[in-house]
Amino acid sequence: MASKNAIKCNSIALIICIALCAPFLSMAVLTCCDLKPVLDACDSYARHGGECVSQDCCFEAMNLKNNLINSHQDYVTACHCIQDAAVKTPNLNHTAFSIIPAGCGIQLPFNFRVDMNCDSL
Ligand SMILES: *[C@@H]1O[C@H](CO)[C@@H](O)[C@H](O)[C@H]1NC(C)=O
Repeated sequence: MASKNAIKCNSIALIICIALCAPFLSMAVLTCCDLKPVLDACDSYARHGGECVSQDCCFEAMNLKNNLINSHQDYVTACHCIQDAAVKTPNLNHTAFSIIPAGCGIQLPFNFRVDMNCDSL
C-alpha cells in the first residue's frame, strides 16, 4: 500500500503549495515562493563555500534573473526574500554568500549581503 500512501502525501503537499502560492501565481508577480528553488540550491554553498558555486545554484539563479524577474518591483521582492533567507540561515558564510552572483556570472542590481538595502535598488 506504499504507493497509495505516496499519492496521499503528494496530494497533501500539493494542496499546501496551492494554498500558499496560488493567490500570487495568477498575478505573475514574484513572491518568496518563487525564490525557494534558488534558496534551496544555493543553501549549501552559502553555508560552506568552496571552489565553485554549484551548478544547481547557478542554474536556479540564472532562471530567476532570466525568467522570473519581470520588473523593478520583482528585483526588490527577490532582494528581500534572499536577505530574509540569509538572515535566517544558521552558520551563513558571508564571503561565500556574497560571491554567488559573480561566481555564476550573473549581474543583479543588488549584492548578496545580509545588510543590503533592498528598498533603494
Ligand atoms: C567561506 O567561503 C569562502 C569562499 O568559498 C571560503 O574560502 C572559506 O574557507 C569559507 N569559510 C568557512 C568558515 O567555511
